[in-house]
Amino acid sequence: MSVPCVAVDRERGETVRSRLADADALDGDHRIAVEDDTIYIPVSGRDRVPADLAHRIVERDPERRDRPTAPAEILGYEPSLERLGDIVIVDEDDDERAREIASAVMDSDIPCETVLNRASPIEGELRVRRWDVLAGDGTETVHREYGHEFALDVAEVYFSPRLATERHRVIEQVESGESAVDMFAGVGPYAVPMASRGADVVACDLNERAVEFLRENAARNGVAASVTAVTGDVRELADEYADTADRLVMNLPHSADEFLDTAVALAGDDCVVHYYDIQHEDDPFGPGRRAIEAAAGDAYAVDVETERVVRSYAPHEYNVCLDVRLTRAGD
Ligand SMILES: C[S@@+](CC[C@H](N)C(=O)[O-])C[C@H]1O[C@@H](n2cnc3c(N)ncnc32)[C@H](O)[C@@H]1O
Repeated sequence: MSVPCVAVDRERGETVRSRLADADALDGDHRIAVEDDTIYIPVSGRDRVPADLAHRIVERDPERRDRPTAPAEILGYEPSLERLGDIVIVDEDDDERAREIASAVMDSDIPCETVLNRASPIEGELRVRRWDVLAGDGTETVHREYGHEFALDVAEVYFSPRLATERHRVIEQVESGESAVDMFAGVGPYAVPMASRGADVVACDLNERAVEFLRENAARNGVAASVTAVTGDVRELADEYADTADRLVMNLPHSADEFLDTAVALAGDDCVVHYYDIQHEDDPFGPGRRAIEAAAGDAYAVDVETERVVRSYAPHEYNVCLDVRLTRAGD
């Protein structure tokens, strides 16, 4: 069936599509097509097309739309996107391109309230970054990961959906009845699922807002009774919870080594430590192993059970995890 379409150069595609959307002229029943360097945008009637674009109308037989519209269809290229609840994060250095992508995301069928772009690296002790809000206005959302819900505000706390698989790997090792300490807990993406598996969890974070979300998330997921959330420096936990932990999660990759004395103090007789680190590809696991051995001294036998590259962090640098069993000497 013949349908009027506005034909423009691909580079002008998003600008023209936005103008047609503003004029309520888009034909949502047919798909946009890209051929060579021309984009063909189906319109719902010639009379709705702004006058200066009228000469660009051609008759075509576009494909009917029978599946959701992806941003790539609107843009003519595949943007790099990350989903966090109903927030979409674009990864763009060029501000104009970031705004073009944000507009396409909002016009696509992705369920989305806010589009953000990174405005700074992850910074400071609390590991939080700044954001440009490109569309919508909130930075708070509820993210779902392996059956759990996490409320969080990306402008106030650390959270990376990219670590979901890694977190799941660790959480699957947890057995009912364990005592676990999540030393750098954030909003609880380790602590809450560990509690769901039957662990008794102490979860600590320096960031007051993160701990507020952590408490909310424990309640939201029905495990508030098994999670003790503590605000403050984890080093302050060492006395109260000394010699108790069957499992320690140390997800503070740039400086976890500074907390190994605390980890050893918290460890019970037989304790698995999930130690995250960022190291050069030439020796990604050696520095962590040596730091743990030094902290354990003669008090514990150290057995590195798993060495795992979690992801590439920067050129020639890896984010890694060592699963290390500490067994008290003489046991
Ligand atoms: C990389 S984030 C990890 C958060 C969480 N485990 C996750 O996977 O989303 C590290 C967290 O450690 C917290 N932190 C930094 N220094 C700390 C300290 N001395 N004691 C307790 N928490 C600390 C930060 O506020 C941040 O939330």
